[in-house]
Amino acid sequence: MDRRITLDEFIISNQHLNQNASGEFSGLLRHLGIASKIINRVVNKAGLLDILGLDGGINSTGDSVQKLDTYANELMIEYLKNSGICAGVASEENDEFIDFTIDSNIKSSYVVVFDPLDGSSNIDVNISVGTIFGIYKRLSHVDRPLDLHDFCQQGNKLVAAGYVLHGTSTMLVYTTGGPVNGFTYDRGIGEFCLSHPEMKIPEKGKYYSINQGYSNSFSEGINEYLKHMASNNTALRYIGSMVADVHRTLCLGGIFIYPGTLKSPEGKLRILYECNPLSMIIEKAGGKSINEKNQRILDSEVFNLHQKSSIIIGSKLDVDEVLLFI
Ligand code: AHG
Repeated sequence: MDRRITLDEFIISNQHLNQNASGEFSGLLRHLGIASKIINRVVNKAGLLDILGLDGGINSTGDSVQKLDTYANELMIEYLKNSGICAGVASEENDEFIDFTIDSNIKSSYVVVFDPLDGSSNIDVNISVGTIFGIYKRLSHVDRPLDLHDFCQQGNKLVAAGYVLHGTSTMLVYTTGGPVNGFTYDRGIGEFCLSHPEMKIPEKGKYYSINQGYSNSFSEGINEYLKHMASNNTALRYIGSMVADVHRTLCLGGIFIYPGTLKSPEGKLRILYECNPLSMIIEKAGGKSINEKNQRILDSEVFNLHQKSSIIIGSKLDVDEVLLFI
């Protein structure tokens, strides 16, 4: 019988393989899977519900907030809080972290960082968006309130990272430090099913991905690299949803770059919610992820919740090629 392994079955059967995988950790992963399904249901029906358009607010990094951003954010927070196995969260949409231990007396060792709906400028026009998450072991004692250090950890301390791509099909891709596995959502049975075991990024790809419209404000090195790509007739693909652009890069190889610009000299993308989790996935799949100073993203020091970074991420040989120009 052709029967797919569901996400729950996979998590439970792998619990013993990972030193970090206590029942608590596995339970957290399963709750993230369930929250993703609920977000996916709303993203898919967005045009039918009064949930498209701007919410009216501006988030901590100065971006306009969409109604669906707010919905997905509140859902993730509520879901993780009610799980009883998450000590607290930091979200791209909130200025401060949220400590669940205070009023709910939760003793969990784990905190979750997430971007509830990445690429939200694409929502209203039915283009792929994503949810990104990372799980850290908290540094403070379980009997104490959380502090900033519990969240501002280097990416190399992540115990798990993943994303959900709400695309033509919905996929959840994650790693707990071993292989990267991809699960496709089967709407008929309401489950994520293992469809892409042990994903590997090709050593070299045929696409590059960057918002070339900002080239006037890129460094000379990045512009030299772009000229080189154009002279090779290399195809450009840019969706404007990092999850979707990185997912394509993971599957087909190639490179995604968001460099520093005049508007955001240090880069636009947030280390905690976007760069670190996606870098962990790409590295575990055999790729590479650095910033414009050729520092490994996962080794970046994190000083505040909304710190940004430039990023050059993708196939190893493609990332190395960029380094020849910068
Ligand atoms: P947000 O989470 O606020 O929607 O940000 C989207 C990010 C990322 O997903 C994408 O790669 C990038 O912003 C697109 O930015 P530009 O529009 O500047 O290219």
